[in-house]
Amino acid sequence: MKKTMKVIGFKEHLPLTAANSLQEFEVPRPQVQEHDLLVEVAAVSVNPVDVGVRRTGHGVLQKPKVLGWDAVGIVKEIGSAVTLFKPGERVFYAGSFKRPGSNSEYQVVDERIVGHAPEKLTDAQAAAVPLTSLTAWEALFEQLEIAQGPAKERTKTILIINGAGGVGSIATQLADWAGLKVIASASRRETIRWVKQHGAQQTVNHRKNLVTEVRNLGYQYVDYILGLSDLDGHWAEIAALIKPSGRIAAITENKRPLDLKKLTKKRAKFAWEWMYTKSYYQTPDMLSQHVILEKMAALLDQGIIKSTVTQELSPFNVANLKRAHELVESNHMMGKVVICKQ
Ligand SMILES: NC(=O)c1ccc[n+]([C@@H]2O[C@H](COP(=O)([O-])OP(=O)(O)OC[C@H]3O[C@@H](n4cnc5c(N)ncnc54)[C@H](OP(=O)(O)O)[C@@H]3O)[C@@H](O)[C@H]2O)c1
Repeated sequence: MKKTMKVIGFKEHLPLTAANSLQEFEVPRPQVQEHDLLVEVAAVSVNPVDVGVRRTGHGVLQKPKVLGWDAVGIVKEIGSAVTLFKPGERVFYAGSFKRPGSNSEYQVVDERIVGHAPEKLTDAQAAAVPLTSLTAWEALFEQLEIAQGPAKERTKTILIINGAGGVGSIATQLADWAGLKVIASASRRETIRWVKQHGAQQTVNHRKNLVTEVRNLGYQYVDYILGLSDLDGHWAEIAALIKPSGRIAAITENKRPLDLKKLTKKRAKFAWEWMYTKSYYQTPDMLSQHVILEKMAALLDQGIIKSTVTQELSPFNVANLKRAHELVESNHMMGKVVICKQ
């Protein structure tokens, strides 16, 4: 194996129109540490976090910043403490916020946040799901404390705001699998059709007033709300719609102070979900991301959960990575865009 590898990254935070907003570099191939796997990356997907990190910052970086938080690939080497994987196995993962990303020939990743890739899925189908699955799973089953498993929550209702995006497309499926009545927000004919295909029984339009939209469906309140877009814009609606003692989770940061007082009388609970928390802080339950990805792989192989890939690009080069960033940057994605090596 050669000592260097190709990556696509950047040294300056630039708009996509700038020629060097994303460019190819040759860098040293990383070495595995104790719990690391060295993975030869076969396909990646692009998430809003890639766009956010690319756009945010100043100055010229000393080393290229490599983005990419979704990958499928083959394990080539393992660290001395690895117990969960062997060389040659096909894996999928989102990765860590602190380490170089998957837009790379090879990547090192801690085994505790990696799963065996679903066997029946193509590389493109598998690369679409790790980050959004971890986020949706942790939000629903850890932060909202919904009972995990088929049809466990038959009498309860969840409102998912932004049902057709990457996270929403998995969250609607998982909430449906748990037996919840799922109301998902979608604003266009194609996204309404998409969320219904992915487990939403009813839809509301997030471009209209969500309180009116939900009440028009016959619900005064809902048991759970999962906020997957524009928390500032939707906060008053969320506070109005949550049932007394209900639970709310959000994955997008507020830009203005959040008025938690709106929840006092209802004694509703609010929780954040950040998919990177466990690896960022090396929490004792970091291994739970391996467990979630293994469960997701089984659900995907059984056809209970479907991959959310809607667009496949190849080969993996600067032009295609820019195209994928452009699609995600539009903030109108339905499902996921994936780039395969070849
Ligand atoms: N905390 C975490 O761990 C975590 C993890 C993943 C993602 N995120 C964040 O969560 C957000 C969603 O991620 P994603 O991957 O699902 O994004 P995405 O796929 O890019 O979401 C695109 C969708 O957002 C919808 N949308 C746009 N504006 C909206 C609004 N005001 N209200 C409701 N929906 C709206 C669009 O619908 P229309 O086209 O119909 O308007 C579109 O279908 C992003 O901000 C991302 O950075 C956080």
